[in-house]
This record gives sequence, C-alpha cells and structure tokens, in this order.
Amino acid sequence: MAGVQDDEVKACCSAAYASDWARHLLGESFHPGGLALTKRLGTLLDLGPGKRLLDVAAGCGASAIFLAQQCGCEVIGVEYGHDLVREATRAAEAAGIAHLVRFEQGDAERLAFADDQFDAVMCECAFCTFPNKKVAGGEFARVLRPGGSMGLADLTRSGEVPPELQGLLAWIACIADALSIDEYIYSLRDVGLTVDRIEPHDEALTTLVHDMRTKLFAAELLVKLKQVNLPSLDFERAKALARAADKAVKDGRFGYALITAIKPS
Ligand SMILES: C[S@@+](CC[C@H](N)C(=O)[O-])C[C@H]1O[C@@H](n2cnc3c(N)ncnc32)[C@H](O)[C@@H]1O
Repeated sequence: MAGVQDDEVKACCSAAYASDWARHLLGESFHPGGLALTKRLGTLLDLGPGKRLLDVAAGCGASAIFLAQQCGCEVIGVEYGHDLVREATRAAEAAGIAHLVRFEQGDAERLAFADDQFDAVMCECAFCTFPNKKVAGGEFARVLRPGGSMGLADLTRSGEVPPELQGLLAWIACIADALSIDEYIYSLRDVGLTVDRIEPHDEALTTLVHDMRTKLFAAELLVKLKQVNLPSLDFERAKALARAADKAVKDGRFGYALITAIKPS
C-alpha cells in the first residue's frame, strides 16, 4: 500500500476487525457467505477427525471453531490482532471445543511452524489484505504437508479498481488489492501449489455489501438517536465507500470465490 508501512497496514486491519463496528456490520463471520461458505470450504478440503488444519487470519475464531465442531479436525488459528486472539480463545473455551481448537498471535507472512505440519491450510477473506502476498503464499505452501490442500476464499477483481476504492479503508475491507482469478492462480502456482478448483460465489458478496449498507444507515440513525453506544465513525466516508463498493459489485467488477490447490507429493 503506497505510503504506508506493511506493519501499519496489518495493525490497522486487525484493529478494524477487532472493533465493535466489525461485529455490528458483519456479525461473527468476517467474510461473504458466512459459515455456510466456510462449511463448503471445509468439504472441499476434505476435513475430518485426525486431520490438522491451519486457519490463517482467523479473525474472532468463528470459522475455526465451526469446522472443529462440524468435522472433528484439530484446528490452529493464527491471527495478527492480540485482542482477536483473546476473543477467539474465550469463544473456543465457551463452546467446549478448546481441546480441538487453539489460537495464536502471528503473521501470515512469518508463520511460526515447521515445514509440512498441516493436512490443510485455509485463509478466508484475508489474503487480499496481506501486503506481501508472495511471501504469505510461500508460507502456506511451506507448512502444508505434501499432498495437503490449500483453500482460499477471497474477493476477486475484474478490470481496474475505481479510484474511490483505492485507499487504506478499502484495502482493509479486502477491496483495494483484490486479485483477479488468474492472479490468484499464478500466486498459488508461483509457490508450488497446483490449483484444482475455482468456485465463484459472487452472490455472497452482493448480499454482504447490501446488508452492510443497510446496517450502516440504521447505525447512523441509532447513533444520532443515542440508542446505541458505538465508537465514533466518519459516517460520510464509510457510506461513500459502501456506496462505491455496492456499485462496483453490481457492475461486476468484484466477485467472491473459493479456490483450492494441492501441494504435490
Ligand atoms: C476480513 S477479516 C477475516 C477474518 C476471518 N478469516 C473470517 O473470515 O472471519 C481479515 C483478518 O485478517 C487479519 N490479518 C490481517 N493481516 C494479517 C496478517 N498479516 N497475519 C495474520 N492475520 C492478519 C485481520 O486481523 C482480520 O482478522
């Protein structure tokens, strides 16, 4: 991101997703399609008891906890934000699943695991926020065992990003540096992974952006009426970004896809 240090981008991103606003606008799952698409990704990754999954950029832990509950696999969630790690750990304990899921603070671009440790690695709606995607992709491939599966769920871009969607806020909202499907394929191939499936789920993004716009308008009203206690927000800026994102999604400039790849044996 021009003019901003990589660590600042990561810190801004994790602070935004740890905020009450993220919970208010997005709920527990910080990605299009919610846990229904997480379930689909879990199926594509063939998760089950005895398998070991790494969830990179795990947010507040909803997907990792859900997949451990649904599939009985062991899950480690790595997340940059300390507050999110604490929240995810508490949620796993409250759900009675802490024997299968744990969370660690860490950076996708510097994973603190030895090579070939995981049967599957997934990264939902976060790859496009990483400043150095090649390094992060290399880390995914490194910690995956030969024959293991990688699952990415992320925004996809067709054509140029409009200027109003190029700032830091749009970057951490996964828009400004979203890749085209071909660029995702090259990024994964570049680190030695073989892409075996691309599944478009554009409607999930359309729904999410529409819901967020509605919630933003409702929140502005409630804040004005002093009916909710949320930290201050530049509503005009947030609404302008949501409006531009809505238009770009409707124009077909952005979509959402699940992409899986295999690490050759
Ligand atoms: C859009 S949220 C997605 C969270 C989660 N995967 C989900 O789908 O609910 C993006 C997450 O990426 C995390 N993140 C950003 N940069 C990171 C990095 N370099 N390493 C680990 N996590 C990172 C943020 O803190 C945030 O929780």
